[in-house]
Amino acid sequence: MAGQPGRVLISHAEITARVAELGEAIGRDYAGRAPVLVGVLKGAVVFAADLIRAIPLPVSLDFMSVSSYGSGTRSSGVVRLSADLSMSIEGRDVIIVEDIIDTGRTIAYLRRNLATRHPRSLTLCALLDKVARREVEIAVDYVGFAIPDEFVVGYGLDYDGLHRNLGHIAVLEPLPAA
Ligand code: IMP
Ligand code: MG
Repeated sequence: MAGQPGRVLISHAEITARVAELGEAIGRDYAGRAPVLVGVLKGAVVFAADLIRAIPLPVSLDFMSVSSYGSGTRSSGVVRLSADLSMSIEGRDVIIVEDIIDTGRTIAYLRRNLATRHPRSLTLCALLDKVARREVEIAVDYVGFAIPDEFVVGYGLDYDGLHRNLGHIAVLEPLPAA
């Protein structure tokens, strides 16, 4: 299926306001500490870049790359680690930063993987949560927006590698027949 960004689900202004709130909440919860934010490539890059600037604490930023999706809009169910952290997280307060939780398989894998490295604490901050699609139980500590079961693009999220550069979150719509 070919698709294009259609209806605006979450505007750039709404995202900006919510990211500021998430940053404040993390700032309160981690007061006196210096958490490591682990962004999940590539989708969480835009969110992580804005989120770190909303957190009034000394934070570190690192990235991991995992893939559970091929080039379509449905999960393959297979999670693969394709790039690892560049630093040790032993004894650190780690916050996983993800663009969207769908079935929950990607984040379940990541949590298990990171927990084996003995962080002091491990929490999860997701911009979007597609609650209705969950297949494995996941506790999301910080959520930007709960959204309905629609495939969305923009603000880091892609369809076939495109549309990450949109400032807002849009619903993917079919291309009109030529
Ligand atoms: P999960 O393992 O099913 O939770 O899949 C999560 C991953 O699938 C996310 O990190 C995204 O990369 C991708 N994904 C899930 N839903 C969407 C969507 O609506 N738009 C773009 N990517 C999505
Ligand atoms: Mg992702």
